[in-house]
Amino acid sequence: MSKLSDRRIEQLALAAVDVCGRAYAPYSKFEVGAAILMQDGQVIAGCNVENASYGLSICAERVAAAAAVSAGYREWRGVAIASVGGVPPCGACRQFLAEFGLHTPVVLVNLIDGARHVCHLSELLPSSFGAGDLPRPG
Ligand code: THU
Repeated sequence: MSKLSDRRIEQLALAAVDVCGRAYAPYSKFEVGAAILMQDGQVIAGCNVENASYGLSICAERVAAAAAVSAGYREWRGVAIASVGGVPPCGACRQFLAEFGLHTPVVLVNLIDGARHVCHLSELLPSSFGAGDLPRPG
């Protein structure tokens, strides 16, 4: 199980808080920011983006993950998620993030009191489904 240094936790937490300020959440008013730390130290972030057609809204974690993959990254050292309450990622985002590492450290940041809670994606998504569960073609 990989571990993040305190300095990295802080770096990621601040990036998640920063991008949370750019969330587009006029319907739920629930703003979320996610920041992902790459192996080379770069941080890629994303916020939730809602839509008047509610079902089209996309979570911050998936925006960040898609941006990271689009930038050429497929392996991550950690993810931070900032929100009021420091809530854990939704089920869909757990599955989406797990594609790129079930043992990724996850830092949950509470915007109310600044508290950081560190856990691992494998704890949030036990008995997970992944590529290894797919039948081999042919
Ligand atoms: N949201 C996220 O961005 N990430 C999550 O893991 C949970 C929910 C967003 C989606 C929607 O814009 C708002 O929070 C309320 O559900």
